[in-house]
Amino acid sequence: MSGAAQEQVVNLAVFASGAGSNAQKMIEYFGTAGNGHKRINVSLIVSNKPEAGVLNIAAAYQVPTLIINRESFLKGNAYVDELKSAGINFIVLAGFLWKVPEKLVAAFPGKIVNIHPALLPKYGGKGMYGHFVHEAVINNKETESGITIHLVDEQYDHGARLFQATCPVLSTDTPDTLAQRIHHLEHAHFPRVVEDTVTRTLLL
Ligand code: GRF
Repeated sequence: MSGAAQEQVVNLAVFASGAGSNAQKMIEYFGTAGNGHKRINVSLIVSNKPEAGVLNIAAAYQVPTLIINRESFLKGNAYVDELKSAGINFIVLAGFLWKVPEKLVAAFPGKIVNIHPALLPKYGGKGMYGHFVHEAVINNKETESGITIHLVDEQYDHGARLFQATCPVLSTDTPDTLAQRIHHLEHAHFPRVVEDTVTRTLLL
């Protein structure tokens, strides 16, 4: 390992639009800037929704936040300058509902991961998020669902798959009960898969 790599600290930005339970798991696993995991920390929470629960979590753990606006995200600089000047070198999408613009993908090539609450390539693409995914899985009488953690490219739910884990779908499941089971899987695996990916791509 080179001296430079030994010194490097990776600052994660976690993008989330909702309650933020996965963002919380990331913060608990890695810690925050100057206060946690030696080489990887959660430095910034980014949200497109000023009322999102994830912002309360950010406040509780004293993680800086950035609220983004659709126009600037999609048609402006995609907040690349703001992320770079905050020292961000890796991005985690944890329940972030906007499509990531090409500018952001190009600025962080191979350095953006997403979690999807189903077994891609099934049940992915535009409109397939949150309870819509679980509803579709149940309506199609699937007996198995799960999670997919993948790299982000210019297309929805399309980049290289890094990890999948499965769980059963019960005949009695509702979208809510299935979502709970999927959340357990996400919380159990997502931080470790991010750690492995960051280590492989930036720290080795
Ligand atoms: C997760 O199930 C994630 O896979 C999906 O949105 C949900 C976010 O949950 N895309 P939370 O906000 O992390 O609790």
